[in-house]
Amino acid sequence: MTIQDTIYLSDYTPFGFIVEDVHLTFKLAPTTTRVISRIRFAPNPDSPSRDFFLHGEGLNLQWAKVDGADVTPEIIKGGLRCDVPDAAFTWECEVEIDPQGNTALEGLYMSNGMYCTQCEAEGFRNITFYPDRPDVMSKFTVRIEGDSPVLLSNGNPVDSGDGWAEWHDPWPKPAYLFALVAGDLRNFPGSFTTMSGRDVELNLWVRPGDEGKCAFGMEALKKSMTWDEETYGREYDLDIFNIVAVDDFNMGAMENKGLNIFNSAVVLASPETSTDSNFERIEAIIAHEYFHNWTGNRITCRDWFQLCLKEGLTVFRDQQFTGDMRGHAVKRINDVVTLRSRQFREDSGPLAHPPRPDQFVEINNFYTVTVYEKGAEVINMLKHLVGDDGYKKALDLYFARHDGDAATIEDWLQVFEDATGRDLTQFKHWYTDAGTPHLKVTDNFENGTYTLNFTQETAPTPGQDEKPARVIPIAVGLLNPNGDEVVPTQILEMTEAAQSYSFEGLNAKPVPSILRGFSAPVVLERETSATEQAFMLAHDTDPFNKWEAGHALTREVLINMTQGGTPDQGLLDGLAAVARDHSLDPAFRALALALPGQDNIASTLAARDITPDPDKIWRALQTLKQAVAQHLQDIWPRLLAEMATPGPYSPDAEPAGKRALHGVALSYLSQIDGGASAENAYASAGNMTEQLSALACLLSVEKGQDELAAFRKQWQNDRLVMDKWFGLQVSYASPQTCVETAQRLSQDDDFNWKNPNRFRAVFGALMMHHAGFHRADGAGYDLLADWLIKLDPVNGQISARMSTGYETWKRYDAARQAKARAALERINATPDLSRNLGEMVTRILGA
Ligand code: PHE
Ligand code: ZN
Repeated sequence: MTIQDTIYLSDYTPFGFIVEDVHLTFKLAPTTTRVISRIRFAPNPDSPSRDFFLHGEGLNLQWAKVDGADVTPEIIKGGLRCDVPDAAFTWECEVEIDPQGNTALEGLYMSNGMYCTQCEAEGFRNITFYPDRPDVMSKFTVRIEGDSPVLLSNGNPVDSGDGWAEWHDPWPKPAYLFALVAGDLRNFPGSFTTMSGRDVELNLWVRPGDEGKCAFGMEALKKSMTWDEETYGREYDLDIFNIVAVDDFNMGAMENKGLNIFNSAVVLASPETSTDSNFERIEAIIAHEYFHNWTGNRITCRDWFQLCLKEGLTVFRDQQFTGDMRGHAVKRINDVVTLRSRQFREDSGPLAHPPRPDQFVEINNFYTVTVYEKGAEVINMLKHLVGDDGYKKALDLYFARHDGDAATIEDWLQVFEDATGRDLTQFKHWYTDAGTPHLKVTDNFENGTYTLNFTQETAPTPGQDEKPARVIPIAVGLLNPNGDEVVPTQILEMTEAAQSYSFEGLNAKPVPSILRGFSAPVVLERETSATEQAFMLAHDTDPFNKWEAGHALTREVLINMTQGGTPDQGLLDGLAAVARDHSLDPAFRALALALPGQDNIASTLAARDITPDPDKIWRALQTLKQAVAQHLQDIWPRLLAEMATPGPYSPDAEPAGKRALHGVALSYLSQIDGGASAENAYASAGNMTEQLSALACLLSVEKGQDELAAFRKQWQNDRLVMDKWFGLQVSYASPQTCVETAQRLSQDDDFNWKNPNRFRAVFGALMMHHAGFHRADGAGYDLLADWLIKLDPVNGQISARMSTGYETWKRYDAARQAKARAALERINATPDLSRNLGEMVTRILGA
C-alpha cells in the first residue's frame, strides 16, 4: 500500500455543498440497469470548498446536466468533477450499471434472480455519482421500474402501478442507508402499534418456499420495538418497516432506513432447520438492526472513523436486550468469551487498532471486533463510571441534542460530560488507543485491613508506542474464608499506572473477587492457587466470576498439561460439583463444563512468551476431555435424562439451556462410549439443535459417516442447513484430516464458492480449526492462500476478512512462521489484488 492510499481522520473537511433532495429512477435490467438521478445541491455555508467532486465507480455515464444544460464532467479515478454555479443548482445524470456482473455484492447486485443493494460503507458510488460520505444527508424519492412483482425502497410507499413503484423517505439520510429490492418475493406480514398509538405495517420478505421460517423473526422484531420504547424511549418513525432475506450477502445484516436487508442465515428460522444458537443470534441481529434506526440512522456518523459511535452503542444495546430476554449472567459470559477469543486476539497482533482508528486504507477492513465488541465494552465501562441514572440522562441528552446529526465520538463524550458533570478526558483513551491493558494485582492483610495493589500496563501496538494509563472501573467484592460475602460489589476507579485500595475492619483475610461482571476489557493477572480458584467456583456470588474461576482453573491445568503435566484432581472434583449442582441454571452449567478453545490456550502461552505448540495443545485438550468424561462418568447419563426436553420445541432460554447441557453431557459421554449414545440421539433427534449436536459428537470420535450421508440427503434442498453440513465436517475433523476435508469439500458440486455463506462454512471452519490450520507442514496456510487468491477478484471483502486466519502467525515456531510467511507473500505477489486484501496482507506481514 502506498502512503497516498491512506485516509486520515485529521484531514476531515465538510463537503462544499449541501444536498437538498434526491430523486432516483431505476430502470431495472439484469446487465443493463439505468439509474437516472436528479439532485438539488446548494453551496454549504459551513465549508469554503466549492470543489464539485462526486464519487462514482464502475459507472457508465450516459449524459449529465446542470440546471437542464448538457455538461461534460471530467471523469477521474473514483468519481467525477464538474464546474457548477456558485448558487443552488440541479444536477442530473444517467448511468448504466450491470447488477448481474456484480459479484462483490456491493452496490446493486443480483442474488437468485432478485435485485438488492448493499451500500454501507461505500457501495452507493457503484449505483450513481454522489457525494458518498455519511455527513451528507438528504431526503430520497425513488421510482423503480421493473417486471418484478415486488419493488421496495426506503421510507413510505407513495404510489405504484403495473411494473413500477415510488417510495419517499421523509428522514434525511446518508447514501449508505439507501436500499432497493426487487424480486419475486413472498410476504410474512405483521403489525405494531407504537407507544404514541401509530400503526406500523411490518413485513418480512422471503423467497417462495421460505414463508414457514418467518414467524420467529417477526416476533423478534416486535419485541425489539417494544423494548426500545420501554428502555430508551425510542419510537419507530415510518408507516412501514420491511425486512428482506437474501442468500448472497457479505455480512450479517444491514440497517437501511425502513428496509433492513438480512443475510438469510440470520433471519430465517425453524425448529427443524435452526439450532438454539441460531435462534438466539437471529433475535439479537434483528434487534441490532432495528435499534440502528435511532443509533445509526436518526443519529449517524460524521465520517467512517466514527464507526464505533453507531456500532459500539448498537451492540451494547442489543446485548442489554438479549440479557433482558434470556438472562444476563449467561449472556455476559458468552459475550466475554467472544471478546477474548476474537478481540483480544486482534488487539495483541498486527491488526490492532483503536475503537476509533485515525487512519485506514479500506474502510471495509474496519468492521472489526474492536469497533463492534470493544466499542460496546467501552460503553459498558462508561455506564459503570456514571451509574445507571447518569447513563440514562446522558442518552436522553444524546437523542435530544443530536437527532438528525452526523456526530462524532467527541459529541458522544460531551453529552456524558454535560449530563453528569464528569471530566472524561482520560476516559477518551479507550477510544483512541489500541491494545488490551494488563492489570496486575497483589494483596496484603494487616491489622484487619485488606489492601489490593493494582498496576496497569499496555504493550505497544502498530503505530502506537505510548500507552498512557487508562481509567479502569474495577468491580470488586470480598468473600470470607467460610464463603460468605463480607464486602458486596463496589466499583474501584483506577486512574493511575499503579494504585492501591484498602478495606478496613475485617476479621480475617478475605478472598477477593476482582473484575466482577468483567467490568473492564482487560487481562487480569494475579498469582492464585488452584484451591482458591476452586473455592471461588464454589462460592462466588457474582455469576461471571464464578464461571471465570472455573475457566481460569481449567486453562491453567491445560497449560500445565501442554508442558507435561496431568489432569488436576481438584479441577475434576470442582467440575463434578458444578455438574451436579441443581441450584445452578443448566445454561450456566453447560458453559462451566465447556473447555477453553485451543486458540485461547495458544494466546495465553504467547502472552507469557512461551511458543505455543498446536499439536500439544490439541493433545492436552483431548486428554482432559477424556479425564473429565471418565471422572464424571455416572453423571452424564443422569444429565441426559434430566435435561431431556420432550414436547414441542421452544427456542426460549430455559429449554435451550437444558439442551445445551444435554449436548455437553452427550459430547463427554461419546468420549467413553464409542459414540453409542450419540447414535441413538441422532436417530431420535426432534430438532436441528439435537440433530447437529449428535452429529458433531459422532464426528469428533471419528464416527458418523452414515449419519452424514443421511443428513445430506435429508437437507440437500435447504441451503442454510447444507452450510452446516459443510462446516461441521471441517470443524470436527482431526488435525491430520482437517485440511484434506476442506480440500475435498471445496471440490463438491454443492460448493458454490461465490456464495459468502458457503465459502465461510468451509474456510471459516478451516481457519478456526487451530491444530488443523496451523499444521506443521503448512498445508492449512497453503490451502487458504490458494482460495483467497481465487476469491479475491470476485469478492475482495470476503477474501480480506478471511485473511485474518493468519493474524497470529508470529506466535508460532520458526518453521511454521516460514510457511505462513511464504503463503502470505504468495498472496501479496498476486497481480491486481483488491485494495481490501492488499491492505490486510500488508498489515499482517508487517507484524
Ligand atoms: N452496519 C451493519 C451492522 O452492523 C453491518 C454491515 C456493514 C453490513 C457493512 C453490510 C456492510 O449492522
Ligand atoms: Zn450494526
